[in-house]
Amino acid sequence: MAIQPSHPEDAFLREAEAFAVDLARDAGRMLMGYFRRPLDVSYKSPGQRSPVTDADKAAEDFLQAAILKRYPDHVMLGEEGSGKDSPPAEFTWAVDPLDGTTNFLNGVPIFGSAIGLLWRGQPIVGVIFLPWPGQPDGFLFHARHGGGAFIGDDPIHVVPQPEPKPTGLVAVPASFRRMFHIPPKMRSRMGEFRGSGSIAYEMAMVACGSMQYALFTGPRIWDVAAGVVLVREAGGTVLELHKRRWEPLKQFGVSPLPGQEELRNWRLAEVAGNPQMVDFVTKTLHRRRQLPFRRWLSKIK
Ligand code: IPD
Ligand code: CA
Ligand code: CA
Repeated sequence: MAIQPSHPEDAFLREAEAFAVDLARDAGRMLMGYFRRPLDVSYKSPGQRSPVTDADKAAEDFLQAAILKRYPDHVMLGEEGSGKDSPPAEFTWAVDPLDGTTNFLNGVPIFGSAIGLLWRGQPIVGVIFLPWPGQPDGFLFHARHGGGAFIGDDPIHVVPQPEPKPTGLVAVPASFRRMFHIPPKMRSRMGEFRGSGSIAYEMAMVACGSMQYALFTGPRIWDVAAGVVLVREAGGTVLELHKRRWEPLKQFGVSPLPGQEELRNWRLAEVAGNPQMVDFVTKTLHRRRQLPFRRWLSKIK
């Protein structure tokens, strides 16, 4: 019988979490040094879409160098290209150095730096830096598997109620109606919709109970890896959509040891929140039939 690889021990997770908190603090300071100053902006997609700035690149370079110095046998998979050609690894850091670039370059302080650690594709540590009024170092959200979720030293929790309150906030992207339909009689029961422009920010807001749930139609691994750990450790759950079936997110990718390309190409709709709320939301939403052209478009976007 094949020997099953054993889950990393808590001492390792604790150390990795503390390391990631320090990293996120430093990356946050770095980002704040660029914020509301002239930026060098380029675009990754035609039509001036998917902007990337010198702040994104500097933060990614800093995070990659620090992670590989500390853990030379790990891989960092970063939105701006780090880890692309690396082989599969037991431990992969899925990192969005700056999530919310469009807010950032327009001077809106809703963005984050998200650092997730995966073991064989399973998210085990998550840290998110968010700028926060009155906090010189921002808020540092952090969690490790089995250790609870925190802002700094304060424990955080998802909201407790099983269904959305009408005046409670929920994170839903403006584009969600292309993918989902809500029956008219249910619309007033889904909560107050907000699209913040940063998935990492929304995951953190769900984890601390400021938002009741979050729906994402096509996030990338670096947008959500850290947030998945935070939401779970704050008492929530994250479901992902497979065709028309919602299932708990267990790991990114399907291979026992997913390669970097498999992780980089992962893209599924998700709902995050407390388990009853997520159940309510996923039972209420109806997936629209996708026209072949739209299916093709969503793959290339
Ligand atoms: C974006 C943000 C945004 C989401 C986009 C992402 P970026 O990340 O998370 O909320 O709607 O799909 O690409 O490009 O700012 O890192
Ligand atoms: Ca992002
Ligand atoms: Ca980014």
